Order: sequence, then C-alpha cells, then structure tokens
Amino acid sequence: MVHTPGKNTKTESLAAVPASKKGLILLDNPRFYILATAVTLSVLIPSWLRLTVPSDQLFAIRVEQVFGYTCLVCWYVALIASPLQKQLGGRFGTNYLVFCRRAIGVSGAYFALLHVLISLFGQIDGLSGLALLPPKFLWSIGLGTLALFILLAMAATSFNKVIAFMTYPRWKMLHRLGYIGGLAVLLHIWMIGTHLSYLSFRSVIFVFLTLLFRLESVRIADNLAKKYPKLQGKQMTVSVGLWIVATLLLLMLPWFFGSTTNHHVTGNGV
Ligand code: HEM
Repeated sequence: MVHTPGKNTKTESLAAVPASKKGLILLDNPRFYILATAVTLSVLIPSWLRLTVPSDQLFAIRVEQVFGYTCLVCWYVALIASPLQKQLGGRFGTNYLVFCRRAIGVSGAYFALLHVLISLFGQIDGLSGLALLPPKFLWSIGLGTLALFILLAMAATSFNKVIAFMTYPRWKMLHRLGYIGGLAVLLHIWMIGTHLSYLSFRSVIFVFLTLLFRLESVRIADNLAKKYPKLQGKQMTVSVGLWIVATLLLLMLPWFFGSTTNHHVTGNGV
C-alpha cells in the first residue's frame, strides 16, 4: 500500500519484478490477484462459517473476528514488507512483496470495513446500540474507529495519481499515521477482543510485533545516522536501544490499560 515515489519506485516499480510479472494488463498484474483473493475470501469465509456455526449470534461474532484478524495480517505484512526488503537486500521474494504491498494494504482496509459493518449491525445493534455499551467498550470502539479512518485514508491515497496530486511530503506524513493506527488497533483488541486473554495467542502477537519493532528500529537508526553525523557508527547501539524501549512499552500494556477482556465465546453462544 505504501508507495514512495522517487524513493521506493525502484523497488515498487514493475522493473523490480520478473518480466513475466509485469502488469501492463490487468490479468498480468499480481496486485489484481491479491485483491481478487481478498474479495473471494470475504465470500468464502462467511459461507463456510454459516455451514459450521448454527447459532446466528455466534456466526456474526465469528465472521467479525475472522475479518478483524485477516485485516491485521494484511496490515502487518504491508508494514513489514519494506524493512524486510531492506534487511534482506531484496532477496527471498521481498522485492516482489514490496510490489504487492499496496494491494495487501487495500485488502486490509476492505476486511476492516467488513469487520466494522458486521460488528455494528450484526453484534451491537446499529448506532443506537452503541449508547448501551459500557465506557470500556466505547473507548475501544473509538480507538477502532480512529484506526479504521487511518487505514481507509492510507488505502485511498495509495494510487500513483493521488500521490502526485497530494505531493510526496504530505503523503508521507499521512502514511506515518499508520503507526498511530497500529497502536490504536492494538489497544482496541486489547480492550475488547477475547483472544488476547490466552497466553499462547498473546505470545504469538508479541513475537510478530517484536520482529517488526526490530526491523523498524534498524531503519530508524540508519535514518538518524544520515541526519545526525554524530550517530554514525553507533547505529547498532541506537537500534537496540529503540528496540528495547518499544518492547518494554509493549510488555507494559497491561500496566497502562489493565488486563484483557475475558469473555471468550463458547460453543453455545456468547
Ligand atoms: C482498522 C480497524 C479495526 C480492526 C483492524 C479491528 C480488529 C479487531 C480484532 C482483531 C478484534 C478482536 C477479536 C477477538 O479477539 O475476539 C476486534 C474486536 C472487536 N471489534 Fe474491531 N477492529 C477495528 C475497528 C472496529 C470498529 C470501528 C468497531 C466498531 C463497530 C469494531 C468493533 C469490534 C467489536 C464489537 C469487537 C469485539 C468482538 C468480540 O466480541 O469478540 N472494530 N476488532
């Protein structure tokens, strides 16, 4: 989703992918297949769940949960693509991944929208139902709404023509909000989600986030060294320091925001 004209064009342009993948027509473009897969999954997932989950209420919850987590997977892949490519020097298909990143990000926004529509109309009883929710849920939904707007804005501005219209500095500022959106969504699911109450689930999320933090801290340390010559040669210390701070903040989440919601859905209902 994130496209940086003049900077990443080398890696995100069609020149960076094999000749056979050059998307001059729709059917040759891998981004088209990613978007088509997202739309197909959005039909197949509810169809399969409808066949396996008899209760209407539980069905709505399951679909909303699967769409919410699918959005997170897309968002994570779109965020990690660029730092991963940088670390691996474009090997192991990472150039290709960066090329596909925009379509992955747009798919994430699509799943977020579906998640919200199902939560709102299948679970909460529409906008009027919001008034009946306890404050903790309202805060969580507020943070989710912030994340949704950021994700939709990023998706809407991920096209070359829009980037040219906006100018690159403004576009970059907007896309930096992706990190605030990521934090907002983490708090959203921490406060309202049910799966984070499982240690195994939390551990998996923790490992993925620390990997992202590590790659981002290396990138930030390199950029700082370019801007402040004093830091040259100290990138490793700076990046490890940033990484430790980010990881500690993540570990302190329960301290700041209390424990997760522990109201997991059982096989019989909510
Ligand atoms: C980018 C935006 C969003 C993303 C990525 C997202 C993702 C998620 C995820 C992953 C969960 C956790 C499911 C679980 O562990 O049980 C969740 C829960 C939930 N979200 Fe969102 N969400 C977003 C925005 C919103 C918004 C704006 C609403 C408002 C209607 C909303 C309503 C809910 C509800 C009601 C739950 C609780 C579901 C349950 O009972 O399990 N979400 N969300």
